[in-house]
Amino acid sequence: MVSETTSTPEESFDDPNLVEGAEAERAIAVDVGERLVEVRDLTMRFGGLLALDSVSFDINRGEILGLIGPNGAGKTTCFNAMTGVYRPTSGDVLLEGVSLKGRKQHRITRMGLARTFQNIRLFGEMTALENVVVGLDARHRTSVPGALLRLPRHIREERSAIDRAMALLEFVGIDQHAEKRARELSYGSQRRLEIARALATDPKLLCLDEPAAGFNPAEKEELMALIRTIRDEGYTVLLIEHDMKLVMGVTDRIVVLEFGKKLADDVPHAIRNDPRVIAAYLGEPEDDVA
Ligand SMILES: Nc1ncnc2c1ncn2[C@@H]1O[C@H](COP(=O)(O)OP(=O)(O)OP(=O)(O)O)[C@@H](O)[C@H]1O
Ligand SMILES: [Mg+2]
Repeated sequence: MVSETTSTPEESFDDPNLVEGAEAERAIAVDVGERLVEVRDLTMRFGGLLALDSVSFDINRGEILGLIGPNGAGKTTCFNAMTGVYRPTSGDVLLEGVSLKGRKQHRITRMGLARTFQNIRLFGEMTALENVVVGLDARHRTSVPGALLRLPRHIREERSAIDRAMALLEFVGIDQHAEKRARELSYGSQRRLEIARALATDPKLLCLDEPAAGFNPAEKEELMALIRTIRDEGYTVLLIEHDMKLVMGVTDRIVVLEFGKKLADDVPHAIRNDPRVIAAYLGEPEDDVA
């Protein structure tokens, strides 16, 4: 599936006018471990349903934080409320101490919070390379009139954008498909392309919503290896993943949601042995937490 139909169709990269300068280099090594994101009492109500009930947790720079919980627990809603797809009913998210309250999705992306979608969202008729360039566009200095007039700086940026997009495709392992239309890619390549496009925005936090959904065990292992590599490159990752074994293997810490509430927040070993977590998963025998 190429297009998303169930959620708000707004795209993150639709306003190059609001985009400010893009530094190619990332300064990461010095502050690994510091708090990067604070989710504070985040609450999301849909009519009578409290999909997120005053959820708070921190995300530290350089970590892979897992976000798990049974179906309908509120994981995707948490992503949507964090990334501006939904406006939270109450509560706040702070990125490097700066509140994201009331900010639009593309602004939040520009501030450094990128995400992929549980249901893949790509521009199906565009090539893989073009899909990544769209992500890079979120960082261009060129204004819209500049882009229309094809000013020299824009042309320069386009060339470096294409080089960088190719490098990102190579990084996620699909550079051989650069010129194929997104809709023609295999499902697994589409998932990787979504990650490349999110990385193109040079995010401080990369949020991945079930990136390995529908993969076979070998593909899942490969994807987890890629996520580890992404972290080793200096990115911070928030990962929703149903496969408990994978989550335990790849994350530094895990936040567990159940019925919209935070149930636990601890290192994988402690989560695995937490009776409340085991009980929460008892209704889902395919997810073996023991
Ligand atoms: N736009 C919406 N309108 C109404 N209810 C919603 C909306 N989005 C989510 N919900 C409800 O909020 C609850 C949490 O859904 P959410 O998609 O966040 O769960 P999840 O933990 O991501 O589940 P899954 O593992 O199945 O992806 C569910 O009861 C869902 O039906
Ligand atoms: Mg979900």
